[in-house]
Amino acid sequence: MISESLTLPCGHRLANRLCKASMTEGLADANDNPTASLRRLYTTWAESGAALLLSGNIMIDRRYLERAGNVVVEDERVVPALKQWADAVHQAGSQLWAQISHPGRQCPRLVNARPLAPSEVQLQLIGNYGKPREATEADIANIIARFATAAGLVQAAGFDGVEIHAAHGYLLSQFLSPRTNLRHDRWGGALENRARLLLEVIAAVRAKVGPRFPVAVKLNSSDFVKGGFTEEESTQVVRWLNDASIDLLEISGGTYEQIECFKTIPENDIRASTRAREAIFLDYAAKIKAVAQMPVMVTGGFRTLKGMESALADRQTDMIGVARPFCLDPDWPDRMLNGDLDRLPVPEGRIKLGSGYFGPNSSSATMRALNNFAQAGWYYNQIERLGAGRLPKPGLSALGALLAHLGKDSTRAFRRKR
Ligand SMILES: Cc1cc2nc3c(=O)[nH]c(=O)nc-3n(C[C@H](O)[C@H](O)[C@H](O)COP(=O)(O)O)c2cc1C
Repeated sequence: MISESLTLPCGHRLANRLCKASMTEGLADANDNPTASLRRLYTTWAESGAALLLSGNIMIDRRYLERAGNVVVEDERVVPALKQWADAVHQAGSQLWAQISHPGRQCPRLVNARPLAPSEVQLQLIGNYGKPREATEADIANIIARFATAAGLVQAAGFDGVEIHAAHGYLLSQFLSPRTNLRHDRWGGALENRARLLLEVIAAVRAKVGPRFPVAVKLNSSDFVKGGFTEEESTQVVRWLNDASIDLLEISGGTYEQIECFKTIPENDIRASTRAREAIFLDYAAKIKAVAQMPVMVTGGFRTLKGMESALADRQTDMIGVARPFCLDPDWPDRMLNGDLDRLPVPEGRIKLGSGYFGPNSSSATMRALNNFAQAGWYYNQIERLGAGRLPKPGLSALGALLAHLGKDSTRAFRRKR
């Protein structure tokens, strides 16, 4: 039942099974610190009744962002602003976990034209990403230390947990993938080597935060690209995670080359009495549940009460991660927990630049990329509205959202103080 509580291996309790999954907010100030807009946004979500709010990507290194506007946690100067953010969530009745992350090669040119990655494999996507530099041993040691430092700082600021982002083609996911990790040293080659960085990061984070603090990992079920991290490899990594002392495993999939997690089933398929298997990664989750010893959260596509309840009842997942619906209907959890709501909005069919050649299924990689940017921009725009205390705008055009997103992120990148 979505209303049931869950106690994690570390002893920490979640009041129900609903989690607002991570969505990068773009609301940090020019010093990459949390702002009043971010507090307003999370207060709205915290009042929704969801047991858990996961922050968007919080970056561990100011030089490498997933997007200008990311919060960066590098040293204690950010702690007071982090504390205000966590306090706002607690006062509104929820808990806040920080998703800590390094973008690797998925760092836009405007932030850094020479990102850091396992190997020099450039992301070719509308010219937005520079050729990465291969991480040295010293870089890798620094990355591990930075993850641990960031975890310790968010803990000191009163956050309730931390999630290590190892999905969606960011740095840890790049190390896992033989497509982006071409190394021949102990960090590349066999899966055991490709998974080493993730396992060392988890160990360093756990050592920093102690045994009673929740540590989660977000992992791809598969990269869904040729030559990428596969489902079989992901299953093996989960076996290793069983011994790594984590409290929650969040399942997702895809990278910027194939944004699998943006898929949803069409609105007219979301009929109250049908589709019990709307969530995208459930088949994989069922296999994972057979090997995973920690609680699992599936994120991606959950849109009906029936779909959520049947995934919990069938033990395919222990937590329900939901992201996009929080942008259009920010207080849905209480209504669903009370039985007043049985389905969430699915506007994705309308968020496209056109049909045919211009549509999301276009055979042109550029058009598909632009449609994905448009969808991200559309949701960023709704997030900004909520952060400004305004209502969401369901009728926003995809083209308008795309242009605004590109314009605003460029402005943010130039305004950053470095
Ligand atoms: C605007 C936007 C921003 C996102 N930012 C992040 C992020 O910072 N970290 C992350 O792990 N996933 C991020 N995601 C992916 C979501 O967490 C989630 O996996 C995906 O949207 C599928 O879930 P949903 O169908 O409930 O939206 C983002 C998704 C959207 C739409």
